[in-house]
Amino acid sequence: MAMGTLSFVQAWAHRWTGRRDAAVPADPDFCRSPAGLALLLRPPVPMRTTIRLSTRLTSSSITAVVAGLLARNLKRRVLQSRLAEQEVRALSERLINVQEEERARLARELHDDISQQVAALSIGMSNLKRQIPQQQGDAREQSDRIQQKLVHVAESIRRLSHELHPAVLEYSGLAAALRTYCSEFKLLTGIRVSLQADGSFESVPSPVAVCIYRITQEALQNVAKHAKVAEAEVELIRSDATLCLSVSDHGPGIKPSCGATPVGLGLASIRERTRLVNGTFEIQSKPEQGTTVLVRIPA
Ligand SMILES: Nc1ncnc2c1ncn2[C@@H]1O[C@H](COP(=O)(O)OP(=O)(O)OP(=O)(O)O)[C@@H](O)[C@H]1O
Ligand SMILES: [Mg+2]
Repeated sequence: MAMGTLSFVQAWAHRWTGRRDAAVPADPDFCRSPAGLALLLRPPVPMRTTIRLSTRLTSSSITAVVAGLLARNLKRRVLQSRLAEQEVRALSERLINVQEEERARLARELHDDISQQVAALSIGMSNLKRQIPQQQGDAREQSDRIQQKLVHVAESIRRLSHELHPAVLEYSGLAAALRTYCSEFKLLTGIRVSLQADGSFESVPSPVAVCIYRITQEALQNVAKHAKVAEAEVELIRSDATLCLSVSDHGPGIKPSCGATPVGLGLASIRERTRLVNGTFEIQSKPEQGTTVLVRIPA
């Protein structure tokens, strides 16, 4: 047998067993025998096992052996990559859930603790101001300024707490939460959002409602950050047991180069959140014609 064929078989022996020590013996008989090939392999088991393949080596039998090994190897790799994919999905689901729990905890802390402390400071400041004599104008002015600052701090805490975990979503439902968010968004960014929310959303499961709310937040943040427009549209429709959310703008559209090397997390997070509630996510964008984020969720 030619040495070329031997090294070919040896390479496959290594590949098949996953061990560099899988041995094809350099036995002269083995190389010379016209009748066949004795291939000794040491597979990776504790007990030393010898597999003896004795066959008449023709090119077709080598091809069959190689094809079998290839198929086995491929099957193992497919299985491994499926398992890895499942693990990644489970991890991202857990991450999103943990993130929501943490946001809710921070929102509670801000609302129940920090907010109350700021309110107490504000009351203390009012009492102090009353004790400052009229003739000490500077001191009274300064206390006024401090009190105004406290009002702003209280407002920022309220807004942050609300953004972290919209209590209105729990108590007033999805449509009301979206309305509140859209009007706060206008106050902050100056972008007017026309919201259309048709249908009944009372029975929408909580994880789906949170998902729709977060996707609207994320898509509107993108409008503010990238579209540079004065108006945006949010539409939520429930029909045929499907919730359809679209967030659109008439801005410059997504630059084609962004798809190839995504840098941000926003669109990835929308895709992941949608997948977790068995929905579909689509993004429609044309240069100078705007962008629409489209999400459909069974609910
Ligand atoms: N409404 C939009 N108009 C124009 N371009 C957009 C719009 N939405 C997204 N893009 C483009 O798609 C890219 C990816 O968006 P994505 O939300 O994933 O990331 P980001 O906004 O850049 O960062 P992050 O969301 O992590 O703060 C953006 O960088 C932007 O170029
Ligand atoms: Mg973004």
